[in-house]
Order: sequence, then C-alpha cells, then structure tokens
Amino acid sequence: MNDRNGPVVGILPAAGRGVRLGEPLPKAFVELDGRTMLDRSVEAMFASAVVDRVVIVAPPELAATPAARLVGEAFADRVSVVAGGAERADSVRAGLSAASGARFVLVHDAARALTPADLFVRVVDALRAGSDAVIPVLPVVDTVKSVDAEGAVTGTPDRSTLRAVQTPQGFDVALLERANRDAADATDDAGLVERSGQRVTTVAGDPLAFKITTPLDLVLARAVLASGVRTEKEM
Ligand code: C5P
Repeated sequence: MNDRNGPVVGILPAAGRGVRLGEPLPKAFVELDGRTMLDRSVEAMFASAVVDRVVIVAPPELAATPAARLVGEAFADRVSVVAGGAERADSVRAGLSAASGARFVLVHDAARALTPADLFVRVVDALRAGSDAVIPVLPVVDTVKSVDAEGAVTGTPDRSTLRAVQTPQGFDVALLERANRDAADATDDAGLVERSGQRVTTVAGDPLAFKITTPLDLVLARAVLASGVRTEKEM
C-alpha cells in the first residue's frame, strides 16, 4: 500500500460512562451550549475537510439510534453508528471493524469537543506526508513525578522530554488494526502502536483540544464557548 491519498475515516469512541464528570448522561451526550459533545466533535471533523466518513462508537443502548438523531442532518449520511465495548480498546476495535475502505483512521475522543478543525488537518497532513502513526502533543506545564504504591516519590523525569497527548490520533489503518487486535486495554491508541515497536511521530496540539473529564472541565468548556472564542460554526 504505497498510495497515501486514500480515504480518511474518523472513529469517535463515545461509549464511556464518564462517571468522573458527574452527569447523568454518557459523557459524549452531555450538551455544551445546546449541542452535544458528540455533535460538536463530528462537525469539527467534517469542517476540517480532511475526513471522509465518521464512525460513532456509541453506548450499546444507543447504537440503534439513527445517525441523524445523534448529529446534524447535514452530516448524517456520512456517519455510521456501532456499539462500543467494555473497555476503550474494545470500542476502538468495534469502530475499526466499521471503517472498511479506510486508508487512514483518526481516533478522536468525543470528550475533546472543542478541538479546532485545523488540528485534524495537521494530523492528516503528517499521515499523507509519510507517517504511519501521528499524535498531537503539548508541552507539560507541571513537573511530573513517578510514585510507588505508597505514594512516595520514585523519580522526576526531565520535563523537557515530556509531552501531554491529545487526540485526534492518526494511523495507517492496517497498523492500528494489528496493534489493537490483542490489546487488553490502553488509555491511548498510540501506546498500542509503540508496544508493537512502530515509530509514532508528533504534531503540535492545541489547548482547545483539552479533554472534558471533570465538572471543572465542563465549566471551562462552557466558559470558552461563552467567551466567543472561534468555534467551528463560525469558520
Ligand atoms: O475514559 P476516557 O475519558 O479516557 O475515555 C476516552 C474516550 O473513550 C471517551 O470519549 C469515551 O466515551 C470513550 N470510551 C469508549 N468505550 C469505553 C470507554 C471509553 O468509547 N468502554
């Protein structure tokens, strides 16, 4: 497979319960300024114009919902919905099985609902230019410690070599399928690819691609929207 111009399929794992957020709904279905995180994420992917199709990996009880009820009508015909699994890696596997025809896949947390469209473009540009696994990263602002089971510090890694990792994470589809096949679980897909010995490259992330995990993150996301920072709708 030498052709790097093939289709790009976005996979949105949205099957997590999001218990840390403290909301009654699965996290991806929580609304920000009247639209769900899931809908916002799908819109950003298509606004980038580098994503051909999107697979939503939904909680099993919502997997039979027509795409048009989950995302804007304008995108529904390019969106399919499949049921997620117990662990995130199971959900990504379900998404991959519905991404037939993809040359590359972008795995993107629906919880990163304010991700700007140009971050998708940066990741896809890197894939087209020759990378098989690409992740967006930001410098780490806090000093990071490793600790033992009792919480005693065991080390202080050199901060200049550390990066905080975001999504979308972009992959050669066959590479991610191989890496994911035997995975028990991983907090990030690139971790599986690294374990399989493959090179993972980075592009600059974006502070707006932060993951909405806690109630404080929800406050921040709503404040960002209220502040008028440019969102995909206005692009
Ligand atoms: O739990 P965490 O915040 O790391 O989840 C990241 C993303 O993976 C979320 O969008 C969540 O909905 C999704 N997920 C999933 N299936 C699971 C667990 C998490 O699709 N079993």
